[in-house]
Amino acid sequence: MGDCADEEVDFDLLDPAIQKIINKAKAVREKAYCPYSKFAVGAALLCDDGAIIDGCNVENVSYGLTICAERSAICKAMSEGQKVFKSIAICAEMKDTFVGPCGACRQVLAEFNVNLDVYLCKPNNEILKTSMAKLLPLSFTPNWVSFSS
Ligand code: THU
Repeated sequence: MGDCADEEVDFDLLDPAIQKIINKAKAVREKAYCPYSKFAVGAALLCDDGAIIDGCNVENVSYGLTICAERSAICKAMSEGQKVFKSIAICAEMKDTFVGPCGACRQVLAEFNVNLDVYLCKPNNEILKTSMAKLLPLSFTPNWVSFSS
C-alpha cells in the first residue's frame, strides 16, 4: 500500500480523540431511526476545539426525505455553533465491506473541509482510514467557487 491508499488501522493505536469519535459513532448508531431499510448508521464529527457532535440516520415513510447520519451530524453541529471539523467517524455494518458516505453526504462534508479525515468503522472495531480528498476528488467546494464571473 502506498501513501495515498486507504489503510486499515488498529483501534488501540489511534489517537484518543479518534477513539472517542469512533465509540460515539458506534453508540449513536443504536439511536438510528431506520424502520424501512433497517440499516443503522452512526456518525461523529471531531471539531477543531475537541468537541464531538454525533448524528444518526433518520428515515421517513416518504423514503426520499431520509437524512443520512453524516448530514444529521453536520446539521446538529451548525446549531451548536461548530463549523470547523478535523475528522469524522462513520459506523455501519455491511458484511465484509466498509460503508462509505453517500455522494450527497460527501458533498456536504466537503463544504466544510475538503481534507477531512474519515474513519469508516464496523461495529467490531475494524477501521478503514480515508479522507474527503480521496472520497471526492476535484470537488466543487467554496474555496475556489466564484459566482461573480
Ligand atoms: N445512510 C447513511 O446514513 N449514511 C451513509 O453513509 C449511507 C446510507 C442511510 C440512509 C438510509 O437511512 C440507510 O442508510 C439506507 O440507505
